[in-house]
Amino acid sequence: SKPKVFVTRILPDIGMEMLHQIAEIEVWPDRLPPPYEILLEKVKGKDGLLCLLTDKIDKNLLEISGSSLKVISQMAVGYDNIDIAAATTKRIPVGHTPGVLTDATADLTWALLMTASRRILEADKFTRSGEWKTWEPILLLGADISGATLGIVGCGRIGQAVARRAAGFGMRILYYNKQRLEPSLEESLGLGYREFDVLLAESDFITIHTSLSEDTYHLFSDAQFQRMKQNAILINTARGSIVDADALYRALTNGRISGAALDVTEPEPIPLDSPLLTLDNIIITPHIGSASRQTRDKMAMMAASNLAAGLKGEKLPDCVNPEVYG
Ligand code: GLV
Ligand code: GLV
Repeated sequence: SKPKVFVTRILPDIGMEMLHQIAEIEVWPDRLPPPYEILLEKVKGKDGLLCLLTDKIDKNLLEISGSSLKVISQMAVGYDNIDIAAATTKRIPVGHTPGVLTDATADLTWALLMTASRRILEADKFTRSGEWKTWEPILLLGADISGATLGIVGCGRIGQAVARRAAGFGMRILYYNKQRLEPSLEESLGLGYREFDVLLAESDFITIHTSLSEDTYHLFSDAQFQRMKQNAILINTARGSIVDADALYRALTNGRISGAALDVTEPEPIPLDSPLLTLDNIIITPHIGSASRQTRDKMAMMAASNLAAGLKGEKLPDCVNPEVYG
């Protein structure tokens, strides 16, 4: 008989078709994620789990419900919602979907950067509300992108894709990364390495592309905003908790920095009574970095492939914890 798999949400058709071929699948049909208690129940007796970044896969779940799991396949590149150490201890390989969403996420980063710098949302509102009376010399002035300095914090696949786009705008491009890149790569991307504090002080635009971990939790807080330029705009398409939201609110209201554009917040969704939502100098989108039709199709197929490999006892094509094979 076919292996049994729990899928925590309805995926793009192409992914669902693949899943039906490889397993007996049970799909959570709602728009909202399965509540934790239900997830605990659903995982029991399953051979595989296909999950999303909105599902908390913790040690407790793996101990209580996970004894039968041969594979966890996450449809996302980030996996901070999964206790990887606990999965590794239980020898469960965890798959993710790197690479296929790199360009889509870099594209959205640029959409946010440009929208913030040229005040597109304010401008659209201005037009619709009938305030557009004439061409005005000092109307809706924003910041130049061309010639400005871009600071990339975390320079893996996505950070590098952002850098490639920046070259077309004639920007000076700085980066900070835990590990410095190869000199040849720095050179071909036109990247200058800076210590984190130095990057903060020199950049007009700062964009975050690190994963969320203990090291990067609230990496941006009051002290970091203090170091930034007053005209700086912060863009976050990585994970919300990398930025301390209260400190960001202070920095945006006391003129420490000029603006922000977030595709990720802490928590998600952002509470409607968050003071950030009262500000004109912030843009917030609902975690849509990888949300293009083609990209989501590819992510679903990749997640299905990882799952299929795990169910067959083969190495996952994209495994987060290959130590399980050691
Ligand atoms: C989305 O945030 C992802 O990690 O794929
Ligand atoms: C994620 O894919 C990254 O390496 O930036």
